[in-house]
Amino acid sequence: MSDVFVTRRIPRAGLEVLDGAGAAYTVGQHDDEAALPRAALIAGAQQADVLLTLLTERIDHEVLAANPRLRGVANMAVGFDNVDVAAATALGIPVCNTPGVLTESTADLTWALLLAVARRIPEAHGYMTAGRYARWGPNLLLGADVGPGPDGSARTLGIVGYGRIGAAVARRARGFDMRVIAWTRSGPERIERDGVEYASLDELLATSDYVSVHVASSATTRHLLDARALGLMKPTAYLVNTARGDVVDEAALVEALRSDRIAGAGLDVYEHEPAMAPGLADCPNAVLLPHIGSATHATRDRMATMAAENALAHLRGERAPNCVNPEVYDAAAYRARAGTAQRG
Ligand code: GLV
Repeated sequence: MSDVFVTRRIPRAGLEVLDGAGAAYTVGQHDDEAALPRAALIAGAQQADVLLTLLTERIDHEVLAANPRLRGVANMAVGFDNVDVAAATALGIPVCNTPGVLTESTADLTWALLLAVARRIPEAHGYMTAGRYARWGPNLLLGADVGPGPDGSARTLGIVGYGRIGAAVARRARGFDMRVIAWTRSGPERIERDGVEYASLDELLATSDYVSVHVASSATTRHLLDARALGLMKPTAYLVNTARGDVVDEAALVEALRSDRIAGAGLDVYEHEPAMAPGLADCPNAVLLPHIGSATHATRDRMATMAAENALAHLRGERAPNCVNPEVYDAAAYRARAGTAQRG
C-alpha cells in the first residue's frame, strides 16, 4: 500500500518533495520509453490514496472507480484531456494540473518550431551532416521571412487560443516586428487588453503568414482546424501546433502539406500520439518534434514538484491550489470519499 502511485518515472525533484513529506510512493514504470500497462495502472490505483499521472495515461472512469479510497489525481501537465474530469467530479475526486510553470518554455519551443520550418533548419542540418555542402549557391534551401521582408512589410502571426501560452508567444513576436492577431472563443477582451488585434478565426486563418495553435483539447476544439479551415490559409502560410494534436485534422493537414495547399507545418503534438497520420513523416515541409514543448530541465523539475505538492494536498485532504474541478470540494461524493479514507 502506498500513499501515492506515480504512474511513470518523473524528475527526481518531484520524488524529493514526496520523500521530504514522508509520503510513501510507488513508481509504476521506470523505463522512460515504455508504457505503463493498463492492468498495472488499475492495480496502482487500487493500492494508493493519490495518483500522480502523466499525459500518457488515460485516467477514465474505470481507473477512478477502481478504489473507493482514492483521494485525488495530480496530473503532471497543464493539459488534462487525458483525465475524465466529469467522471472524477461525479466520484468526488479532485484533479490537479500544473499551470503557469511551463508557459515560457512552451512559448520558446513554439518559436523554435516556427523558425525551424520557415527557414528549413532540419533540412539544412541534414544537408550538412550528409556531407552535401559542396558550394554556396543563391538558390540553396530558400525559406520564408519571419521578420519584415526586404520591402519592410511585417509578417502576420495569428494566435489561435489566447491563454497564457498564446499570450507568451504573442509577446515574443514583438522582437520580430510582426503584426499579431489573435482569436479566442471567449472574445476580444483579454486580447485587446494586451494590445493585440482580435480577429475572427476565419479572418485570422485567411490573413496570417504563421498560424500558431494554443487551445486546449476538448469536444469543442476537436478538429477546429479541419480541411475547410486549412483551406482558408494562404498557400504561403505555415501552421505551428504545440497545443494538442486533435485540434487539427491531421489527415487533412497531410493532404494540405502534400498538395502545397499550405507552405509547411511545425508540429510538437499529434492527433493519435505517439502515432503520426500516414504520410506525415514523408512531408518535407513538416518539422516534427516528440511533444517536447515543456522539456527543459528547470521546467520539468518545477512541473514535477508542483504535481508532488498537489498530490500531498490531496493526501492531507486539503484544497489543492491547482484543482481543475474545485466544485468537487462542496460535493457530497467528496465528503463521503474523505470519510472512507479516514475510516480506512
Ligand atoms: C504538455 O503538453 C502539458 O499539457 O503540460
